[in-house]
Amino acid sequence: MSLQKLFEVDFSKENEIVGYIVGEAKPYEAEILAFRPLSMGEYLYIEYHGYRVLAFVATSITGSLVISRDLVDPRDVERLVKSIRVGERLFYHRGRIKILGSIDNSSMKLHIPPVPPPPGTEVYKAPKAVLERIFTPSTPAHIRVGALLREPEVEVRINVNKVVSRHLGILAMTGMGKSNLVALLSKRVSELGGTVIIFDYHGEYLSLPNTVVIKPMLDPARLTLDELARLLNIPRNATRQRMVLKECLDSIDVEVSKEFFNGLKRCIQGKAARYGSSAQKVLDSVTVYEGFLKRVLKESSGDVMERVSIGSINAVDLSELHLNHADAVIAHWLSRILEARKASVWSNGVKGFPTPIIAVIEEAHIFIPAGEETATKQRASMVAREGRKFGLGVVVVSQRPRGLDPTILSQLGNLAILRIVHPEDQMYVSKYCEPVMQDVMEELPGLNVGEAILLGEWVAVPAAVKIDLVSEKVAGGDIDAVSIWSLYASKKSSEVVL
Ligand SMILES: Nc1ncnc2c1ncn2[C@@H]1O[C@H](COP(=O)(O)OP(=O)(O)O)[C@@H](O)[C@H]1O
Ligand SMILES: [Mg+2]
Repeated sequence: MSLQKLFEVDFSKENEIVGYIVGEAKPYEAEILAFRPLSMGEYLYIEYHGYRVLAFVATSITGSLVISRDLVDPRDVERLVKSIRVGERLFYHRGRIKILGSIDNSSMKLHIPPVPPPPGTEVYKAPKAVLERIFTPSTPAHIRVGALLREPEVEVRINVNKVVSRHLGILAMTGMGKSNLVALLSKRVSELGGTVIIFDYHGEYLSLPNTVVIKPMLDPARLTLDELARLLNIPRNATRQRMVLKECLDSIDVEVSKEFFNGLKRCIQGKAARYGSSAQKVLDSVTVYEGFLKRVLKESSGDVMERVSIGSINAVDLSELHLNHADAVIAHWLSRILEARKASVWSNGVKGFPTPIIAVIEEAHIFIPAGEETATKQRASMVAREGRKFGLGVVVVSQRPRGLDPTILSQLGNLAILRIVHPEDQMYVSKYCEPVMQDVMEELPGLNVGEAILLGEWVAVPAAVKIDLVSEKVAGGDIDAVSIWSLYASKKSSEVVL
C-alpha cells in the first residue's frame, strides 16, 4: 500500500482539528491556538504550500483573559466562575510547536520546508499511520524501546547502528530511569547477537539475563603508567614520582608475572639514591594500597578482552572498588577494547575482537568530569573520536550533566533525556549537545519516571517516549527504609518476648 493510500485511509478517521496557526511563524517553529489543552510531546499534522508536515508540541499553555492575574480578590474568581454559563469558553490553549519536517520525503530523515505555515492554517492530530511510518521502522537495525508518550499504540524503535557509530548520552536526575534504559538497550542488543560491556559501578546489572559478570581484575604486566599511577593515587603533576614508577614499570616487566608487588617495591627501593623522597613517597603509596590493590591486580590474569563473551551483556563488576581504582579499571578496559577493535578492522577479523561493541559508562560525571583529568577521560575522548570507524559505541550515563566534560558531550550524536529539573543542567545540555532544542529542555521537568525525549540520529525525528520497563533488573529502586525498620523492630520485640 502506498503512503498516500495509508495516509488517506487513516487520516479521514482521525481528522480532529486541534487548532490554528496564529501570529508569526518560522519554517521550523510556530504558535497555535487550540480547541483543547495540548500535551507536551504530542504530534500534529499540518498542510501548507503543498507540504504535508509533522510537528511536535514543545510548550503547552492554558490561560484566561477573564480570570486574569490582575484580579486581586479570590471572591471575584468565585463570582466569575459561577456567573459564566456552562460551555462558555473561559480559557485559551496555546502551544509552541516545532516543525519536524515534511512526511512526503521517502528517506528516513524528515526535511523542514523552506517556508513557514501561514497564520490561519488548520492543525490536525497526527494520523497513527504517519506516526507508525516514522517511529516504527521495520529494518533489522531497529529495536523497540517503548511507545509514544501521547500515543501509546505507536511503538518506538531506534536504530542501533547509529548508537554504535554516533554514541549515546542518557541524561536525567537520579531515579528517573537511566539504568532501566541501559538494561533495556543491552537486553535488546544481546538478543540481536550484539556485545555490550557495562562498567557496573553499583553492581545493578549483574542479574540481567544473558549477562556475564566479569571481575575487575587486571594483569599488572599490562598496565600503563597512567593506570598504575591512578591506582596508587599518585597525582598527575608529581613528575618525579611518576618517573620512579615509569622506570620500575618498564624494568620489572620480566619478573612481573609472579610477584608484582615485591618486584615493584624492590625496584622502587633501588631508586632511592637517585630520586630521594620521591621514591620514598611512591614506596609509601605502594605499601598503603598494596592490600587493597590485590583485589584489582592479579599476576598472569591475562588480557581483559579474553573475558568478554560475544553476543552477551558483559557486566564488569566495579561495585567494591574505590573511585580511583574504578577509574583505572575503566580506562584500561576502554583502551583494550579500542585496540582490539582496531586490530580486528585492520586484519579483516583475523586478529582482535571480531564484532562491534557497545560500552556503557555509568556515573560518567565522575569518570569523565569537566575541568579535571582522570584516566578514563582521556580514553573515553579517544573512543568517542575514533570508535565510530572501528565499531565501538559508547553510552555515557549521568545524573549530573553539568559535571560532564563538554568535549565528550558534544560528541554524543544521540541523546535520551529523561526528567531534568536543574536549570543549569538544562542549559549545559542545550549548549553542548547538538541535537537539543531549547524549548524542549524547558519542558523536561514535566516528564515522569521512564518518560524520555530521544534526540539525534537513532530516531527520524525527536521522539517523546514511554520507555519499556525491564522487569528483570532488580536493583536501582529506592530502599523502603520504614518497612525495613518496622520489620527489624518487630523481630526484636519478638526476641524480647522469648
Ligand atoms: N521505563 C520505566 N517504566 C516504569 N518504571 C520505571 C522505568 N524506568 C525506571 N522505572 C522505575 O524507577 C526506578 C529507578 O530507575 P533507574 O533506571 O534505576 O533510575 P536511574 O538510573 O535514573 O537512577 C526503577 O527501579 C523502576 O522502578
Ligand atoms: Mg542508575
